Amino acid sequence: MSGFSFHNHGWWCDAIAIHDLAVRYGTPLYVYSRDRIAENFKRIADAFGLLNAHIHYSVKANANGSILRLLRDLGSGFDVVSGGELFRVLRAGADPATIVFAGVGKTEHELAYALDNHVGWINVESSQELELLDRLAAARSLRPAIALRINPAVDADTHHHIATGGHRSKFGIDLDEARFILQNTNRYPNLDIAGLHIHIGSQLASPDATINAVRRVLELTSLHSIRLVDIGGGFPVAYQPDDHFPEPSMFAEALARLLSSPLRSTPEAKWSGAVPRPLPQVAIEPGRSIIADAGALITEVQYVKMRAGRRIIVTDASMAELLRPALYEAYHHIVAVNGGEPANTLADVVGPVCESADQLGIDRALPEVQRGEQLLILTAGAYGSSMASNYNSRPRPAEVLVEGSMHRLIRKREAWEDLIALEVDR
Ligand code: LLP
Repeated sequence: MSGFSFHNHGWWCDAIAIHDLAVRYGTPLYVYSRDRIAENFKRIADAFGLLNAHIHYSVKANANGSILRLLRDLGSGFDVVSGGELFRVLRAGADPATIVFAGVGKTEHELAYALDNHVGWINVESSQELELLDRLAAARSLRPAIALRINPAVDADTHHHIATGGHRSKFGIDLDEARFILQNTNRYPNLDIAGLHIHIGSQLASPDATINAVRRVLELTSLHSIRLVDIGGGFPVAYQPDDHFPEPSMFAEALARLLSSPLRSTPEAKWSGAVPRPLPQVAIEPGRSIIADAGALITEVQYVKMRAGRRIIVTDASMAELLRPALYEAYHHIVAVNGGEPANTLADVVGPVCESADQLGIDRALPEVQRGEQLLILTAGAYGSSMASNYNSRPRPAEVLVEGSMHRLIRKREAWEDLIALEVDR
């Protein structure tokens, strides 16, 4: 298995010692394993091969152009949620037909940009958006393919901040309204409304809620001809060494069972014993499951001090480079790059940002580490660099891609000058 591992007295990313990367590029540093990304992509593609699914990598997880190009070369399409993400994937050379444009609040400008670039699908989240899009399509003599994002009113088994399918969530169109839209598609003559989209949350603990949600939306396929069912992302990733989650194949198999069950056929078809209509094209939008464990954040210990019987390890990484612990109380496993036995006292790993929430890990069993040594924060490839900010005027870190026994810079470290580059009155 490729990616991050400990051997020969240290942590490695494939054939490259983490310590060497820290020396070469400085810290904090995001590092990614090309081979792990490819392995993750292949695992998902193989699992969903049974449904012949289209894979749209969810760009929000990590939007670096080199990673987008790698995924494009592996055969991935893209799920984008802003004009900026669409710009990035077009720049990365994606075939527009493989792009789905989603998002609860797309602006007119963004929708026009998507239409002008002929993206494959637009996932629409309200009837007002349908009206706007219909008008923009008419003005361009286009008839774009549209999927309705349905809010299936299903609560996902995940952290409340990353659950999106509950009945009060801001996302999607509720079932009643979707029914009405599908019965009145003639109101939108310039739109080819032919898909259904759901995404009930991220880091889903089981396929059950997704299957329930798909079951609910399948009822809609009897109202209107539907060519696409997009089930979103959400496949879980192990953040703790002893985490066990269902593999993507379990999601795929459960979905295949549902789609081929008689439930799919319309009530009339059931009565007449007619053959159910052909399976719709299935699409998925995995982000985390492709990139999370293919990336890590290298940080250098600045200071160590004692507080209330535990060590406080102050690092040069912070909530500005990895927001997940502060925002979601998310766990990221942290290891000492040089290894070693855990010390007697637990450690809190914290950043230098002036916020109590700036904690990367609490109560960790870590070895004694000295100022200047490195720690590796694992599973930071998804929603790490993409959620980074310049808070406390911290330049964003560099990013490095390890390609077997080679490594290359895929984003330069920001400089202090970059912090003020866009200010007008310098
Ligand atoms: N499709 C849609 C419509 C989404 O909203 C998302 C994620 C995905 C696909 C990709 O989901 P994934 O496969 O990565 O679970 N920042 C949070 C995660 C937010 C996810 C938002 N939507 C975190 O760090 O946990």
